[in-house]
Amino acid sequence: MRVLSGTQPSHDHLHIGNYFGALRQQVALQQKYETLIFIADLHSMNSVRNADERQRYTRAVALDFLACGLDPAQAILFRQSDVPEVCELAWYLSTVTPMGLLERGHAYKDKLAQGQSANHGLFAYPVLMAADILLYRADLVPVGRDQKQHVEMARDIAQRFNHNYGETFVLPEPVIGEHTAVLRGLDGRKMSKSYNNTIPLFESEKRLRKLIMKIKTNSLEPGEPKETEDNTLFEIYKAFATEEETQAIAKRYAEGIAWGEMKQLLFEYINEQLKPAREEYERLIANPGIVEEELQKGAEKARQRSAPFLAEIRDRIGIRRLG
Ligand code: TRP
Repeated sequence: MRVLSGTQPSHDHLHIGNYFGALRQQVALQQKYETLIFIADLHSMNSVRNADERQRYTRAVALDFLACGLDPAQAILFRQSDVPEVCELAWYLSTVTPMGLLERGHAYKDKLAQGQSANHGLFAYPVLMAADILLYRADLVPVGRDQKQHVEMARDIAQRFNHNYGETFVLPEPVIGEHTAVLRGLDGRKMSKSYNNTIPLFESEKRLRKLIMKIKTNSLEPGEPKETEDNTLFEIYKAFATEEETQAIAKRYAEGIAWGEMKQLLFEYINEQLKPAREEYERLIANPGIVEEELQKGAEKARQRSAPFLAEIRDRIGIRRLG
């Protein structure tokens, strides 16, 4: 089985909520499947309109993956735009994609619903995404709920192409991560950049401690039993810990652990767990050439697959020498 996963470079480094929401699952794929992970910089053009920003976000996404354990010897990590075949394939696919299919796209419909007009890039975005998936003959595509429709469109487009030109593409399946934790942030609301309540992944030890000490609690005194439900400290601990460790902490809650002690305990625990990623991040930041080098090596591996397959596709559609 081959798995492909794409991330748009439209943000700076991730926070622990993103880590448990998606990144951890994406990195874990490499153990089970032949894994391709790419940075969707061509897609980011629909939202990021500044050149330096795109470059910075691309570096951030690459660093997030590499620091969080993506092993370039096991998984192929590459930048979408380093594989020119994808744009060519997107054109071929667009010629078998009905307007009606794209008119039903969520991203496009939302734009219109907001009373704004859409660019062709946004309208055609599912076609480029179909090219991403079909070019590498991916069987499985792990995505968030919001992206499920796009994978289904890729399937539909693949079927139309296969119907017209003969069996060419593998039909991909979306895999929706059901068991991903949604973490609360420092103020008790959902952890999100826009609320400014996040715990960034690569924070220094000192800053990490400070942030954890800021997490909002209630006024229960030490010795008073405390609820674990909807408790931010407990929730974060649980996201990192094993089942047994979580149960042991639940017992401490029932016994009335002091909030100050729980914060210290949480800090020590997650600091230990985040340390390897932080150290790898610092190593990579100090040697920025390594990241670009990894992307180049990844692109080479990706092209070893995409180039011969595109040649086959060209032959199928009759874009070939006159012979
Ligand atoms: N559209 C996806 C997102 O915004 C990113 C993406 C682009 C992608 N191409 C892909 C994801 C192919 C999976 C497969 O999250």
